[in-house]
Amino acid sequence: MFESSGVKQKGKQASHSQVASDKSEMELPLRPTLFDFHGVSMTKYFTDNWDDIQNFKARPDDILIATYPKAGTTWVSYILDLLYFGQMCPERQTSIPIQERVPFLEISIPYGVKGKDLADRLPTTPRLIKTHLPVQLVPRSFWEQNSRIVYVARNAKDNAVSFFHFDRMNNMEPEPGEWSNFLQNFKEGKMVFGSWYDHVNGWWEKKQTHSKIHYMFYEDLIEDCGRELDQLCSFLGLSPSAEEKERILTGAKFDNMKHNKMANYSTVQIMDHSVSPFMRKGKVGDWKNHFTVAQNEEFDEDHKKKMKNSTLKFRTEM
Ligand code: PPS
Repeated sequence: MFESSGVKQKGKQASHSQVASDKSEMELPLRPTLFDFHGVSMTKYFTDNWDDIQNFKARPDDILIATYPKAGTTWVSYILDLLYFGQMCPERQTSIPIQERVPFLEISIPYGVKGKDLADRLPTTPRLIKTHLPVQLVPRSFWEQNSRIVYVARNAKDNAVSFFHFDRMNNMEPEPGEWSNFLQNFKEGKMVFGSWYDHVNGWWEKKQTHSKIHYMFYEDLIEDCGRELDQLCSFLGLSPSAEEKERILTGAKFDNMKHNKMANYSTVQIMDHSVSPFMRKGKVGDWKNHFTVAQNEEFDEDHKKKMKNSTLKFRTEM
């Protein structure tokens, strides 16, 4: 599978596991650079297959999991997968990594299966599909087919910190540089998939007129995952038993996902988990360990301006 392939970067030392695991090792180009794509910062790994992505044929029973990167995509994907298939296909949980159960629609990296093709080939009903696209770039068929969409948003400060560590460990991302520069770029929307502000607000506005969007918050999941699961079930028209819900909530606990090879992205070799694990902290408020007092004040001021016309509210501590 594309994300498990033994690709390494030109000019970089391959990790031990890459060398050990791969005879047919291929090389990825150097870390990608950002460019403007329909007004959104993107890299070629998410635009190379653009026509195919835009022509994706969604189905009415598809469930699209949409997020700004690092907002809780994997957590909610895992919950949904357990909800639909945990009981019926328990072997799925031990044999298929989450990134293959829930394909990343727009991903297209060298030597790998394109996310769109993986989604086309999904044998499940419903199909669970992941996207980080801002609302205006989502393929038309999802709206035409009235597919259900679960959007997850996370407060900007923790989202930025999580994104920074992810860019450090994922060779498919642009170089993050130093934290202070990264934070500045985050504020300016110079991130893959563009501005956090445009993303969370764009989807929030769409939700006001589109009943098939369920808008969730990472902080609410942390506060009471059982309550969030109940709300998700009522959006999806599902009524799992109390035991079933308990099984899902246990499986989706941070520590359980962190130690689960099928949920923690450890099978993905372009990610170097020794730099920073994919399942890193899983907390609200880790930004306090990264922001200086001055950075926090500047961020708050900028945040206030950018959110002044929005009814969206985020919690940065709990
Ligand atoms: S990605 O690459 O965009 O799909 O990443 P995404 O899954 O959206 O976000 C990764 C962050 O979500 C945290 N995470 C969780 N937190 C709490 N509980 C559970 N079960 C859980 N699963 C994933 C993960 O640790 C990343 O956040 P940080 O702050 O970096 O730890």
